[in-house]
Amino acid sequence: MDDVRVKSLLDECSARSESYRTSGYGEDGSSLYVDELARTECAGLTARRPRRPGEAGVSRDPIVLARGEGAFLWDVDGLPYVDMGACFAVAAYGHAHPELVEAVSGQAARLMHGMGDVYPTDTKVSFLKALAALAPGNLSGALLSQSGAEAIEAALKMAQMATHKSRFIAFESSYHGLSYGALSVTGHQNDFKTPFATRICQQTTFVPYANCLRCAFGQKPGSCHFACLRHLERLLTSPSAGAGDVAAVIAEPIQGRGGDVVPPAGWLRALRELCTRHGVLLILDEIYTGFGRTGVTFACEREDVVPDVICLGKAMTGGFPLSAALATPEVLSHWPANTSEAIHTSTFLGNPMGCAVGLKALEILVRDDLPGRARQEGAWFIEELRRLQKKHASVVADVRGAGLMIGLEMADPSLAPRGDLALKIVDKMRDRGFILLPSGPWGQVVSMSPPLVIPHRCLEACLDALEGVLDEVDR
Ligand SMILES: Cc1ncc(COP(=O)(O)O)c(C=O)c1O
Repeated sequence: MDDVRVKSLLDECSARSESYRTSGYGEDGSSLYVDELARTECAGLTARRPRRPGEAGVSRDPIVLARGEGAFLWDVDGLPYVDMGACFAVAAYGHAHPELVEAVSGQAARLMHGMGDVYPTDTKVSFLKALAALAPGNLSGALLSQSGAEAIEAALKMAQMATHKSRFIAFESSYHGLSYGALSVTGHQNDFKTPFATRICQQTTFVPYANCLRCAFGQKPGSCHFACLRHLERLLTSPSAGAGDVAAVIAEPIQGRGGDVVPPAGWLRALRELCTRHGVLLILDEIYTGFGRTGVTFACEREDVVPDVICLGKAMTGGFPLSAALATPEVLSHWPANTSEAIHTSTFLGNPMGCAVGLKALEILVRDDLPGRARQEGAWFIEELRRLQKKHASVVADVRGAGLMIGLEMADPSLAPRGDLALKIVDKMRDRGFILLPSGPWGQVVSMSPPLVIPHRCLEACLDALEGVLDEVDR
């Protein structure tokens, strides 16, 4: 998208804001769709606003999205928005990237669906080869699936198969998805689990994450010698700690939904060493952080760490539902040879459209050095946000991030979380044409993960809008 068009779309975003801010939504197209959804979709999803006003992230009827281009989205009323979240960190290459559109439509015309593990497609073979070449270290064997949660399920099975152990160590505030297995290692929001508790495997021990702003051990950053990891190690070694029989530790290198929490330098490497020392596998969930998001291809590269299993999804295709768990040959050697029925597969395994678009996405990622772009733009953006933080120090407790995975933690000077403020900011930003989401256990973090191709001018405009909104809410 050229500069002139970007500027004219940004002008459109700000031009509408005065009337839009007072009237709510543009035309009533969105509300008609929302009414229809309330009748036809599980009420626990779209129709939630009227049932739970004030709930994090949903204080008004949702926008109904109609199309996207680059870093922009349009709703059914024709209003443009800057997509500051890449639709859950998926649209890393921008919406409607012409090469991705061509890849998926070309494959759809050739062969839309194959036969999974039984008769693989040539496209799946090419994609697996490219993925293994890009993956860190010797993570060369993949189990493909559709959603992030399914990649987690596969990783848990791989670890159990390789170790013959059944217990996992996971982190508080982690998010790994909402299927039963993934839920069993998800630490974020007890609400997700409570109604299903009786079917969720209890073989997980949760430990505090390296959240230095809110250290569970009351330590000051820099002088703690990773108290959280010492706690984890004690669980692994103490016969009375109740964490024996551990197959693996599962971690996000940077917590996403948990509030864009970036562990201190050296932490991930120390976690890797700890797992190796105790013969426990390390599963890294890079579903959010993978494919350039944090300024390197995979976040584990920031510390030269190679896990035993890595989970990928989201930006792997830029929008087509495809995910993967990749493991080392050693881990996979314990997976029994397939003599009759595959013990873990599915109808859509390695869907050729997903593989075709994924293959092209990996090519674009490397060719256009999107990790480098995320690193450069992210460093600038974080610096600018820190300037805003200084001006609003009584409500912005932290600005943090890596590459274009960025969070602004809203809290009082006593660190009491201000989810109410984060939600207000998200709402007001949407009214100005910027889509952001809250994250964190209290919804207290304003989270940003824009497409890695976002024009610099959009980031500048987002900063201006944020400054205006912070001035409004911090009175
Ligand atoms: C780190 C991480 N893991 C797993 C998932 C689950 O992915 P999905 O929603 O595709 O099941 C998410 C989704 O946000 C995630 O951020």
